[in-house]
Amino acid sequence: MQDLDENTATDAALAQMANTPNPRLKQIMEAAVRHLHAFAREVDLTPEEWLTGIGYLTKVGQACTPIRQEFILLSDILGLSAVVNALHDKKARELGTQSSLLGPFYREGAPELPLGACILETTTAPQITLYGRVTDNDGTPIPGARVQVWQTNEHGLYDLQQHGGEAMDMRGNFCCDDQGNFHFRTVRPLGYSIPMDGPVGELVQQQNRHGFRPSHIHILISAPGHRELVTALYFGDDPNIESDTVFGVSASLVVQAKDDPDSPIPSLQAVRYDFRLARAAEGESGRVGADPAALMPAAQ
Ligand code: BEZ
Ligand code: FE
Repeated sequence: MQDLDENTATDAALAQMANTPNPRLKQIMEAAVRHLHAFAREVDLTPEEWLTGIGYLTKVGQACTPIRQEFILLSDILGLSAVVNALHDKKARELGTQSSLLGPFYREGAPELPLGACILETTTAPQITLYGRVTDNDGTPIPGARVQVWQTNEHGLYDLQQHGGEAMDMRGNFCCDDQGNFHFRTVRPLGYSIPMDGPVGELVQQQNRHGFRPSHIHILISAPGHRELVTALYFGDDPNIESDTVFGVSASLVVQAKDDPDSPIPSLQAVRYDFRLARAAEGESGRVGADPAALMPAAQ
């Protein structure tokens, strides 16, 4: 009979799981148990703290709805989503443009717009142009690549927050021309706070963090035979550029709007950014991020 203590309990749990037929499940659960047990030993976790943690995770689950995924938000503020995205990028057969977080505001069914259109229904803020080219990793243009964009307005609000309901605004889908070029008009989005009214916001406040994301434009690009790219461009002069609450910013994704005589609309300030898509590997799948509704059990 084995005598269990805080160290041998780990070996006992691993031994019971040793016959897991699915090798990937076995690898993931073994590592999870080893790291979780080591964490409990490192902090000398008390029963009260263990229960507080269980209670916290229960509240995170209860905060989830078809339009709110509090667990993904928790993963985001812990930096786990950023780690998973970076690992995903490294698995590509070639290194394209870096990924960034999909976030909770992506929506299918945004309007299909002609190149050059403005993605805001109305605005009084100065317009800027975002333009560039979508190529493969060697710089060969990808004609017809699909570019989906979404962002907040100049007040830091997404369409759901500004208009409520089903209204689609500050988003649009574009089809690149036969040289892989795209351009559209928008306004400079304002940075905003992640949802702070749930258990994740409570934790962020307890950690004395500000909860803001710097100003950014989300981009999702797809083309047959290529890896889907989920990314975002970040405005370098935002005061929170170095302290994004969800760790989405990377140096290669930082931009600024400036006068640009080469822009397709030279009268407006412009951001130029060329995106590189990696070729898809055999059987490759996996979007970075998820639609919250896809994670809810189907209604009975
Ligand atoms: C966003 O950029 O839309 C976002 C990403 C992660 C958490 C909250 C918001
Ligand atoms: Fe966002």
